[in-house]
Amino acid sequence: MTNNFSLNGKFAVVTGGTKGIGKAIAEALAVAGASVAICARSQAEITSTVAGINPRIRGIVIGKVVDLRNSDEVSGFFEFVDSELGGIDILVNNAGVGIFRSVRDLTISDWRTTLETNLSAVFYCCHEALPRMIIRGGGSIVNISSLAGRNPFAGGAAYNASKFALNGFSEALMLDHRNDNIRVTYVMPGSVDTGFSPRSERAPWKIAPEDVAQVVMDVLAMPERTLISRVEMRPSRPGK
Ligand SMILES: NC(=O)c1ccc[n+]([C@@H]2O[C@H](COP(=O)([O-])OP(=O)(O)OC[C@H]3O[C@@H](n4cnc5c(N)ncnc54)[C@H](OP(=O)(O)O)[C@@H]3O)[C@@H](O)[C@H]2O)c1
Repeated sequence: MTNNFSLNGKFAVVTGGTKGIGKAIAEALAVAGASVAICARSQAEITSTVAGINPRIRGIVIGKVVDLRNSDEVSGFFEFVDSELGGIDILVNNAGVGIFRSVRDLTISDWRTTLETNLSAVFYCCHEALPRMIIRGGGSIVNISSLAGRNPFAGGAAYNASKFALNGFSEALMLDHRNDNIRVTYVMPGSVDTGFSPRSERAPWKIAPEDVAQVVMDVLAMPERTLISRVEMRPSRPGK
């Protein structure tokens, strides 16, 4: 579907675009012609990501250091996007952390880090993006959730809670703003082959980050009359 899809002239934000899924999404958007702003906490990784981005891209990729848990830093990031890109049409809330411990072993800090990154930061970014999109006549928001947002597992209490909540937030957000011509989608991948969690090993049977990026591009390529609200994806043949 997305082969001839063009995002020329579109402005996109991808949170956590320096690694894994976010980096693949930022590249796919830029290859389709979008101007893309990424953010993460490491300046070194932003610099190397921007420098190493796929040379086939038609758009541009820029980046800024932001800790998304801090709403003031998120506001500053969107001011940077205003001045460097000139607007926002597409927001991909991708950044996330996974801290996997039993409830007894989870620290208060683990809990806050997980909920603030995976849930509150998505609210902060949407809160900044929505008025900007409405001025431009609409836009698209894609939230990268997880199958952990519907399947609880031992050791997943903080992560499960953050992704279950993200799914509910995404559906309410979609209902609040679809009549503003804003299409909201949440994507729920199973295991993706990234360095996300020290407890999971890299493996070729997992979903590739580029496959999640392809889903995001397919979602964006739908005719404007149609909104894909939720996508589940999983490895075809999970490792034993
Ligand atoms: N990998 C999987 O198996 C899998 C499966 C389902 C869903 N997901 C979801 O997919 C998303 C991306 O996962 P991934 O596997 O690509 O992870 P990853 O490789 O660890 O990348 C995470 C990105 O988020 C950034 N980030 C984390 N905390 C941040 C913060 N407070 N402020 C700004 N940036 C922050 C990281 O950069 P810095 O660390 O430099 O800040 C990095 O760029 C997450 O939401 C995750 O829950 C992953």
